[in-house]
Amino acid sequence: MKHLLTAAALDAAAATAVLDTADGLKHALLGREVHKLPTLRGRTVITMFYENSTRTRVSFEIAGKWMSADVVNVSAGGSSVGKGESLRDTALTLSAAGADCVIIRHPASGAAHRLAGWLRDTGTHVVNAGDGMHEHPTQALLDAATLRERLGGIDGRRIAIVGDVRHSRVARSNVHLLTALGAELVVVAPPTLLPTGLAEWGVPGLRVTHDLDAELPTVDAVMMLRVQAERMHGGFFPSAREYSIAYGLSERRMDLLPDHAVVLHPGPMLRGMEIASAVADSPRSAITAQVRNGVHVRMAVLYHLLAAEEDRS
Ligand code: CP
Repeated sequence: MKHLLTAAALDAAAATAVLDTADGLKHALLGREVHKLPTLRGRTVITMFYENSTRTRVSFEIAGKWMSADVVNVSAGGSSVGKGESLRDTALTLSAAGADCVIIRHPASGAAHRLAGWLRDTGTHVVNAGDGMHEHPTQALLDAATLRERLGGIDGRRIAIVGDVRHSRVARSNVHLLTALGAELVVVAPPTLLPTGLAEWGVPGLRVTHDLDAELPTVDAVMMLRVQAERMHGGFFPSAREYSIAYGLSERRMDLLPDHAVVLHPGPMLRGMEIASAVADSPRSAITAQVRNGVHVRMAVLYHLLAAEEDRS
């Protein structure tokens, strides 16, 4: 694997290899006082975030450090981007400075793909940490890791993805990845928050509904999405009250779920709108586990990009 740009590019075998590596790393570090492996000693990982992030940025930094890489964090605000430097020149500069891997979050859909094109003649790998409304592949991988852990597997499981699907790169990456891993997906959203080109996602058999209550008793997992006001650009933004009545995961709705079903949310959460605090903090909630698994999954991604081929040779 040269880059990780989309979940759509991962088939079941490639995704399972990353998930198995993450599992192995998690168990290798379990109970250790010092979370440090020598695997990426001498390698340089640069995170370049043009949008806000807590989970993704921190977990990539921790992942790199736990694997002994040198990790450098660049934010658009504190870099020469603020002086007008282009994304292309910034990328070529980071590569020339010695980046083995650039992890990018950018508000433009396709930014990570452009970066990989500009860096094609270099040895620098690119990871998409979220590009606009397009994809967030490592989020989907950590969600899959969490579902495997909680449900014992993904193949044949029914999973509802609920909320602002229109603006969600998390939804698109999960639809691709979880379908590749054999899950049966249903997308639940108000008509105004469905993508106009859902068919263009190219996922056959993807079911869409507006009735959350009808789906909940039949699913193994429900993945709530954040309502992304920052991508609505003055368009329709539902009131928190109206949204939560129709699409929020309340305690009443949680009680409709089968006993074994698990609740996910990629974060950050709008408590009281998409999800009630009593649900987010309940034993059914895997939200903290998602964050924890994010570190191991990102370690696994860095391993597959930067070290796996060396290990095989
Ligand atoms: N889930 C996610 O991408 O969170 P951050 O925006 O905090 O990285």
